[in-house]
Amino acid sequence: MPSRNMYAEPFRIKAIETIKETTRSTREMLIKEAGYNVFNLRGEDVYIDLLTDSGTAAMSDNQWAGMMLGDESYAGCKNFYHLRDAINDIMGYKYVVPTHQGRAAENILMTLMVKAGQRVLGNMHFDTTEGHILIRNAKPVNLVIPEGKQPAIHHPFKGNFDLERLEAEIKQFGRAQIPFVLITVTCNNNGGQPVAMANIRGVREIASRYGIPVYLDAARYAENCYFIKMREPGYQDKSIKEIAREMFSYADGCTMSAKKDALVNIGGFLAFKDDRELYEKAVQVQITYEGFRTYGGLAGRDLEAIARGLYEGIDERYLENRIRQVAYLGEELLAAGIPIIEPPGGHGIYVDVKRFLSHLPQAAFPAQALVVELYLEAGIRAVELGTCAFGYRNPETGEMVYPEMELVRLAIPRRVYTDRHMDLVVRAFRAIAARKERIPGLRLVYEAPVLRHFTARFEMLSFHH
Ligand code: F0G
Repeated sequence: MPSRNMYAEPFRIKAIETIKETTRSTREMLIKEAGYNVFNLRGEDVYIDLLTDSGTAAMSDNQWAGMMLGDESYAGCKNFYHLRDAINDIMGYKYVVPTHQGRAAENILMTLMVKAGQRVLGNMHFDTTEGHILIRNAKPVNLVIPEGKQPAIHHPFKGNFDLERLEAEIKQFGRAQIPFVLITVTCNNNGGQPVAMANIRGVREIASRYGIPVYLDAARYAENCYFIKMREPGYQDKSIKEIAREMFSYADGCTMSAKKDALVNIGGFLAFKDDRELYEKAVQVQITYEGFRTYGGLAGRDLEAIARGLYEGIDERYLENRIRQVAYLGEELLAAGIPIIEPPGGHGIYVDVKRFLSHLPQAAFPAQALVVELYLEAGIRAVELGTCAFGYRNPETGEMVYPEMELVRLAIPRRVYTDRHMDLVVRAFRAIAARKERIPGLRLVYEAPVLRHFTARFEMLSFHH
């Protein structure tokens, strides 16, 4: 490998997609029409799209070549076996249930395991996971360490479980109330923060003592493995695959949104280590909701792209470049005085808007206001993780309940943007910071009863609120 100062991207660009530039006055019109909600914008009106790292990766020539080798047989297509072999090789899991994306895998797992009144224990459940638990009248419980919720505190593994609280929960509610423990690697909801191997092992030990199964939400497992290699003693000389094998060995199975670390635009799967009976039950649900066991709602070509993408996702040079780019954006924003969750996580930078726009009360949707400013300033699309996404009205009093953190996520698609795009994001932040006291805040004018952030509409407040 070249020395640090001879470092550049470990790929060159073979196909490009032109992105449109718009003028500020066009963007003013478009964002107003969108009800100041970037989910209502057209993708082509966005210059740098940091809405999500999910399904937005650039596939490699090797993956595209694999797409041409799609076997579209209804039953037994060869690409299914390639995918199964890849998962068997990297994760050590025997039984594979392909699904159209991650949440479909969650749906199958929850259908098999979760009953009303139960509690699913996690470090921090992702939104769709939480939704699947709540829909079954069960309770999602988040047991991340306290450092995991404090943006400015440094800790190498802010996605870790609080093992004492985990054991206390199990003792209090008992095996019958807890269908499984779910470890989300990396932990998306607090900044793409990794979970240490020692912590995963600890979860396994505690759960095993009480006979409780453990599952991984493996959407960003490869990024998590890279952090383990960089930060956890004893892993420096291991390959990412060796680290992954150990990590997956502590769980009974996993769900995965392949749209993240498998570097594809669509797809996911549920996998079981060795429980054939559970696998057969899963296939029953899969066939009703997704498709036959060897395609699960995907085309043969999609399965091939996942099988190949899984190997590219654990390539160390790829991971180094990926994590380095995210860190680069984080460091440059810090240098510009922008408060972020520290240290940067695996798939994006999360701006701490409570500190950045401290003049705005949560009632004025400060994180959403920043999302709007980023679009107006430079055509950048980010996502709000604050009062709009997580605030809610108390059903009895009608009063607003505000979330602890007010964040804007800048999720970085894999292999898509260069550091020059990141520099532009930093310049936009510098410009916004210079006039931040004049950012007016927003007023909610439409909200749907559930998951309101996807469809909410706002008006801009006047400057003197
Ligand atoms: N688990 C995690 C940790 C996720 O981040 C996501 C999706 C899912 C499960 C669901 O997977 O989208 O394939 O159904 N996260 C995306 C995001 C949407 O923007 O963070 P899916």
